[in-house]
Amino acid sequence: MKVIVLNDPIEISKEAAEIIVKQVNNNKGSVLGFATGASPVETYKRIIEKYEQGEVSLKHITTFNLDEYVGLSRENVNSYFYFMKDNLFGKTDVNFDKVNFLSGEAEDTDAECKRYWNKIKESGGIDIQLLGIGTNGHIGFNEPGDKFADGPFVVKLTQSTIDSNKKYFEAVGDTMPEYALTMGIGDIMRARKIILIATGESKAKAVKALVEGQVTPECPASILQLHADVTVFLDKESASLLGDR
Ligand code: PGA
Repeated sequence: MKVIVLNDPIEISKEAAEIIVKQVNNNKGSVLGFATGASPVETYKRIIEKYEQGEVSLKHITTFNLDEYVGLSRENVNSYFYFMKDNLFGKTDVNFDKVNFLSGEAEDTDAECKRYWNKIKESGGIDIQLLGIGTNGHIGFNEPGDKFADGPFVVKLTQSTIDSNKKYFEAVGDTMPEYALTMGIGDIMRARKIILIATGESKAKAVKALVEGQVTPECPASILQLHADVTVFLDKESASLLGDR
C-alpha cells in the first residue's frame, strides 16, 4: 500500500486525476470504477478541466459506480447516479450507454446484484477503482461486520453512515434511505489498481485502521492492505494518527 500525504484536497486531486487521465490516454476503452461523496469531488473537477483543455476524452470508457441508495430514482438529486451526472459524466463526453449503475429502483434486488456482477465480469474487470472511506472504515457501502462480502449485495446502513450522510437528504426535506446496494469487497479487490482519498480529521481513526490496523471486516477498508496496487492519498489531518513512516 502506497501512502502519500499531501497538503490539501487540491494537491490530492491533481495527483489522482493525473493517474486516471494517464490510464485513459493509455487505453481509451478503460474500465473505471467511480465513487461518490465529498472525497472525489475535487478529482472530478480536475478531470473535467483536463477534458475541457483537450487533454483527455472519456468517450470510450466504461464506468461502474460503487453503490446506490435503495428506492431512489436516477432523477432524485440525492441518488448517486444524479451525483455522477452532476459532478463528472454530464460535464464531459462520457457515453451514458457505457455508464453502469446498481439500480436503486430494482424490484428484485438479488437479480440486480447478479446483473451488476455479470456486467463487471463481461467488461473485463475494473482498471482503476476510486474510493473514499467512511468514518467507520467502510468502502463503498461495505459496513463494518463479521465478514467480507464478495459480489454486490443489499446492505442496511449503519447509524454512523446515516449520521454522516443524512445532511444531504435533510437539505431537501427528505429522509435518508436505510438500505443501499453496493459492490462487495471482492468486486473492489478485483480492480487492478485502487486509489483511495481521505481528507480531514474526521477520517483520521479510519485511516489509522486502514493503514496500520489488523485486516478485519470490522474495518472493511483494512483488506486493501492485501491488494497489490493501492495508492492512499491523505492530507495532514486524515494522516494525523499514523505513526512515523
Ligand atoms: P465522503 O464519504 O467522501 O463524503 O467523506 C466517503 C465514504 O463514505 O465512503
